[in-house]
Amino acid sequence: KITDIRAREIVDCRGWPTVQADVYVDGVLAGRADVPAGRSTGLHEAFVLTDGDPKRYRGLGVRKAVANVEGEIRDALVGLDVSEQRKIDQTMVELDGTPNKKRLGANAILGVSLAVARAGAATAGMPLYRYLNPFGHVLPVPLMNFLNGGKLTANELEIQEFIIMPVGADSYAHALQMTTEINEQLRELVITKYGILATNTGDEGGFATPMKGIWEPFEFLQKATELAGYRVGFGEDVVYALDCASSHWHDKATGLYTLDGKSYERDGLIDLYKQVAAKYPLASIEDPLDEEDFEGFVKVTRELPQTQIVGDDLFVTNVERLRLGVGRGAANAMLFKVNQIGTLSQAFESAEFAYRHGYGVQVSERSGETEDGLISDLVVALNSGQIKTGMPIRGERTAKHNRLLQIEGELGATAQYAGHAFRRPR
Ligand code: PGA
Ligand code: ZN
Repeated sequence: KITDIRAREIVDCRGWPTVQADVYVDGVLAGRADVPAGRSTGLHEAFVLTDGDPKRYRGLGVRKAVANVEGEIRDALVGLDVSEQRKIDQTMVELDGTPNKKRLGANAILGVSLAVARAGAATAGMPLYRYLNPFGHVLPVPLMNFLNGGKLTANELEIQEFIIMPVGADSYAHALQMTTEINEQLRELVITKYGILATNTGDEGGFATPMKGIWEPFEFLQKATELAGYRVGFGEDVVYALDCASSHWHDKATGLYTLDGKSYERDGLIDLYKQVAAKYPLASIEDPLDEEDFEGFVKVTRELPQTQIVGDDLFVTNVERLRLGVGRGAANAMLFKVNQIGTLSQAFESAEFAYRHGYGVQVSERSGETEDGLISDLVVALNSGQIKTGMPIRGERTAKHNRLLQIEGELGATAQYAGHAFRRPR
């Protein structure tokens, strides 16, 4: 039985306040979890409750959310069985009473939801991934965002993430090794062309260089991979991916996308993606088009048959948004971010809905993270085969990578690296 719930204001990797929640079972601290935060957020995400007090953290404090955890939420949940995750999550959703968790705050609700899961696992004496799914055994392919732009950097590159997927590795540990070897080659290439300052990194650990457009970053990825001794191509060591986060360089008034000084209509942009896919093995594109353009997503999904099309800002881990996409064939995979929807049960419900309709699920970090590695347990529990959790060079990112190494070790011979089958490893 849950006997107490506590919370506090902590800071994320940007120094911005976020919520940490603690769940007590039979008087003992049994589960703790941190809430991540986005910066390049979707319009339809659940509501993050901030204090709005300009005298603290420029309005970004979360003391109100913390008070909601220790007040109303605590009162509603004390006495419930910690193993009843769905009932607990539903109780919080009903207590909040708004469609986007605006009253209590999705940050308050999610902190408790995740801490309840951890407390349930601890009470059952199991690691979290096994508690959530006794058959979780797939280690994901990491989507490593070597070059960063968009809202997560201070450069002029519009596309947010240029990604290498080490699909030819034979384990998660090997995938990390390949990543670092390629990244060290890339560092030298960047220094040679742009100087040492260009090796500063963005929020998720990729280099924030003065590169522009879409072609030059791929040329660098290609060269670095080859210098590290790996082969590029479907069925080879490495394939590529993008997170375009295109809502953020799309003008809602004119409908135009502006990339490196050139404006594109939707169809022109799709053509550009097709040119890239003709030259490079482009295995996945996230948010290639604006978050409201379901029709465009149908088109891009049809026209890039070799490429996984992932909806992040499009779906916001929300089963109702996903239903809109699945019905028409918009995208064929969902990005999975627990804080976009605000409870673990709802996020799992979205993932299960995606699987039932043949869509892939890519588990993801937020740009604002803490040293909590919880999503690594989730990706294994989901057997989803793919995770986006940044370059392994900053503590809040290594927390996830290192947690996956622990899980891979614990699973031993039953661990299966998703590899080339990352879209459907189950
Ligand atoms: P965010 O960025 O966490 O700031 O939203 C990551 C992404 O767009 O995938
Ligand atoms: Zn994204």
